[in-house]
Amino acid sequence: LGDHIPLYVSATAGTTVYGAFDPLDSIADICEKYGLWMHVDAAWGGGLLMSRKHSFKLNGIERANSVTWNPHKLMGVPLQCSAFLICEKGLLQACNQMCAGYLFQPDKQYDTTYDTGDKTIQCGRHVDVFKLWLMWKAKGTRGFEILINKSLELAEYLYKELNSRENFELVFDPELTNVCFWYIPPNLRRIPNGPEREKLLHQVAPKIKARMIEEGMTMVSYQPHGDKVNFFRMVFSNPATRKSDVDFLLEEIERLGKDL
Ligand SMILES: *Cc1c(COP(=O)(O)O)cnc(C)c1O
Ligand SMILES: *[C@@H]1O[C@H](CO)[C@@H](O)[C@H](O)[C@H]1NC(C)=O
Repeated sequence: LGDHIPLYVSATAGTTVYGAFDPLDSIADICEKYGLWMHVDAAWGGGLLMSRKHSFKLNGIERANSVTWNPHKLMGVPLQCSAFLICEKGLLQACNQMCAGYLFQPDKQYDTTYDTGDKTIQCGRHVDVFKLWLMWKAKGTRGFEILINKSLELAEYLYKELNSRENFELVFDPELTNVCFWYIPPNLRRIPNGPEREKLLHQVAPKIKARMIEEGMTMVSYQPHGDKVNFFRMVFSNPATRKSDVDFLLEEIERLGKDL
């Protein structure tokens, strides 16, 4: 690193494409040893904290100095609801407050700690967290747990289905609700593994997705990643999804892609 001094470590709990988790406890050990700020990007995976079954994947997050968490993702809060949590009380205020006398008079007739505007970088924007608060009141922690359990069950179901079908290949074993896979059309299965097959496989997902868009029945994202050619990425976060929707998705992919 030469003369550079590391400022902080940004760990990820639930990466966007793979849904992978960094080992937070081990990272916290290193941060403690060297006096580094530890940030956890739990924008996507933070919702697992609501489930007693799945929260262990974020073990160590309680040792972080700061956390980002988007309840509008896994927890289904309407867009947008992004939280930035800081362990040290008063730090956000110390960093952000401008004490504008025309906005935040200290001698108002009510408790001015409710004037949150001076603590955030958002100031005059929507109070996004209100939606989460309202939803939490209505559903309860158990309500969120049901939702999280269900999304992960669906991911598990898709994973098992993909494993049992010979025209599909998994990119990795999922940790979150991201299930990444290739569809291998019959024509491609005859070609041995190698650059030729990879080149053709790279074109399969975009072609199937184009057909999906034309027909308007299903949508699923795809992308390449590192040395991996285009693959589908199915992500579950909608509590209304059923197993029959998962079956339908796979049937549609086969129907639209079998001639490629
Ligand atoms: C979605 C996502 C973000 C970005 O969050 P925004 O609130 O849309 O800026 C950051 N990190 C991860 C891992 C994400 O999945
Ligand atoms: C979530 O799943 C776990 C493990 O299967 C279970 O113990 C828990 O009761 C479930 N939560 C709810 C609210 O159903």
